[in-house]
Amino acid sequence: MKKHVVIFEARGGSDKGPYGFRRDSKPIIDSLKKRGWTAEIIFYSDEDRGEIYRYTYDKADAYISRVNPGNLYDETGYFQMLKELVTHGIEGLPHPDAMTAYGAKNSVERLKGTSIVPKDVYTYYDFEGLKENFPKALAKNVRVLKQNRGSTGEGIWRVEVINRDKYSNTIPLDARLKLTEAKDNHTEEKTLQEFMEYCIQYLEGNNGLLLDMPFLERIKEGEIRILMLRNKVVNVVHKKPANTKDAFSATLFSGAKYRYDKPEKWPELVTLVEQMVPIIQQRLGNYDIPLIWTADFILDTDQKTKKDKYVLGEINASCVGFSTFLELSENIADEVLALLDAESAVNSRWGAFTR
Ligand SMILES: Nc1ncnc2c1ncn2[C@@H]1O[C@H](COP(=O)(O)OP(=O)(O)OP(=O)(O)O)[C@@H](O)[C@H]1O
Ligand SMILES: [Mg+2]
Repeated sequence: MKKHVVIFEARGGSDKGPYGFRRDSKPIIDSLKKRGWTAEIIFYSDEDRGEIYRYTYDKADAYISRVNPGNLYDETGYFQMLKELVTHGIEGLPHPDAMTAYGAKNSVERLKGTSIVPKDVYTYYDFEGLKENFPKALAKNVRVLKQNRGSTGEGIWRVEVINRDKYSNTIPLDARLKLTEAKDNHTEEKTLQEFMEYCIQYLEGNNGLLLDMPFLERIKEGEIRILMLRNKVVNVVHKKPANTKDAFSATLFSGAKYRYDKPEKWPELVTLVEQMVPIIQQRLGNYDIPLIWTADFILDTDQKTKKDKYVLGEINASCVGFSTFLELSENIADEVLALLDAESAVNSRWGAFTR
């Protein structure tokens, strides 16, 4: 083994410290050093792709990807490079396809039929799909429509029919909608037709899609972010939306308040998530579970039992931060070493074991 890990980052973006890299990357390097390994950060750019590929292939046993695809002008080249690296035996943390599967907004829909996802969740990949189903879904309840590439609430819309009582089973195209965007909780009005046409931008391109899920009123009580180190819950963040009339967003910019909890404070949810990990892994394509990832939950009330139930709102796996509890780097380093040790014992060409 080369005993070296490369951490990929992107230049720019609001997640960077004063020296241009992520504050929580240096602790990973330090923790690996304590264990007799070395690590370094490499800023990815398309121009240097060939050279970065060769360098990483020669020098490293594994990469850790800490790139928010939204910070790259076009992520195609980056993903291609990661694929080449994993094909040639470099351990991908995570595998590029796992990053896509876990990070895409339709991961929620892929878990339909499990206890953490409502029955009326849909994904639209084109305008026809949207036009066919969205008016019907909207007739049943208030919806949240999510673009795939969004982060920090951009293109995440709460959609409510104004004067719902005027209509029956389907909502006509000229019905007026009240739209609230999670970016800043601002509201606007459009007709259903206008709004669906506005949404075409979210359906364009390779990864264009919209996730349509019911609006969960209890978001007012907060969104609960579970931070995972592979299959273990390591931290919990409680995010309470601003206390204003239309606020439903748990993003910092929109004024939500964050509280950082130990997993012990959320025993039920922690048990639920850890039990769900194998199902999540299987439904999302059977890749190795990402090194660090998050799952966000919102409370709902079960109609039959009247009991609390947790609903999955989204998963993130591409660029998860842990600046508020940097000591996690020690566990990350342990996990990386354990993984590579296991990997080195088995010929990976035939994938002898699942983990
Ligand atoms: N089904 C829902 N019901 C109520 N509120 C929701 C629902 N889905 C999302 N929200 C609210 O909208 C916010 C933004 O949605 P989401 O987290 O899915 O998008 P995002 O833009 O990818 O955010 P992030 O930056 O966290 O990745 C959430 O933090 C939550 O407050
Ligand atoms: Mg979110």
